[in-house]
Amino acid sequence: MRRVIFDTDIGIDDAMALLFLHYAPGLRIEAITTVSGNASIANTTRNACYVRERFGIDARVFRGASGPIGPALGNGHPDFVHGKNGLGDIEFSTPLQEAELQSAAEAIVELAEAYPGEITVVAVGRLSNVAKALDLCPRLPDLLKEVVIMGGVFMRRGHQGNVSPVAEANMAGDPTAADQVLGSGLEVTVVGLDVTEETVMDEAFVEALRTQAGDAGSFIHDITRFYFDFYESINAERSCPIHDSSAVAYLLAPEHYHVEEGPTRVVCEGVAMGQTILGLHPERYESDAWLGRPSCRICTAVDADAVKKLYLETL
Ligand code: BDR
Ligand code: CA
Repeated sequence: MRRVIFDTDIGIDDAMALLFLHYAPGLRIEAITTVSGNASIANTTRNACYVRERFGIDARVFRGASGPIGPALGNGHPDFVHGKNGLGDIEFSTPLQEAELQSAAEAIVELAEAYPGEITVVAVGRLSNVAKALDLCPRLPDLLKEVVIMGGVFMRRGHQGNVSPVAEANMAGDPTAADQVLGSGLEVTVVGLDVTEETVMDEAFVEALRTQAGDAGSFIHDITRFYFDFYESINAERSCPIHDSSAVAYLLAPEHYHVEEGPTRVVCEGVAMGQTILGLHPERYESDAWLGRPSCRICTAVDADAVKKLYLETL
C-alpha cells in the first residue's frame, strides 16, 4: 500500500485529483495539506475539509502556507478560473470537521519520520509547504519516498507558460520554494504544462463522469461549469487541460509518460520569474548553476488517451 500526502491549493482541478487518489486502489491518503493559490488559505483549507467530508475521505487536513516564502509573480488568487470560493462557486455548507492545529509543514515531517521511505507527496500547488518542511527537517530527502509535482513548463512542442510566456502558476507563485525543492535531493518528478495541456477534458468526458461516476461525477460536473466558462472565454472551446490529476496519473501509471532527466532550476527573479529550466548537459554549460545539483525527472510527453481512460475507470 502506498502512503500519500496530497499537498494542494484546492481548486477545481485539485478536487478532481483528490477524488482520483481517493478512488485509486492500493493507496492511503495520510494527509491533505493545504496551501494558498487557487484561493486563499482559508478557502483552500475549507474546500479540503468539505471534499473530505462529502466523499468520506479518511485523511486529516493540515492548513499550510498563506503566502510564498520569497518574491513571487502576482499575489492574488485566480477567482476568474476557479471562482471566488475556489470550487467554481457552487453552494455548499461549512464542513463540520475543521483542519488540525498542527501546520502542513510539521505534518509532512511527522509523517515522513513515522513512515521512513514510504511517503509520496503529490504536490499540486505552490511548493511553500514542502520547502518549509525541508527547513524543519533537512534530512527529509532521506525520509520521503518521492515527490510528484504538478508545475512548470519546459516549452516542448510549443507549450508556453500560463501566467507569463515562460512561467506556470504553481512555480511562479513561489519560485524560491520551487527552486529549493528541485535542488534538495528529494526524489522529484515534475508533471508540467507540456503534458497536462496535452491531456484535454471536454464536455463529453465530464458527461461520462456525470452518468457513470455517482456523486463524484455529479460534483465534478457542477464544479467544472465555471472552469469551462473560463476556458471557453480564452480558447472558444468548452474543454480544458487536466492539470493536477496528471500528477496522480503519473503516480499510478508512469508508463504513460515520457521522462527526461537532469538538474532543474526555477528562475527566482526578473522577467522570467517562475520559469523552469531543465539542464540536460550540465557539464557543457558556462554557468555553474546546474553543476552539483541533483537530477529531477521531467515528464515531457504523454499518452493522453490512456490517462483519461484511467481517470474514468478509477472513478
Ligand atoms: C496549476 O495551477 C493551479 O491553478 C492549478 O490547480 C494547477 O495546479 C496549473 O498551472
Ligand atoms: Ca493546484
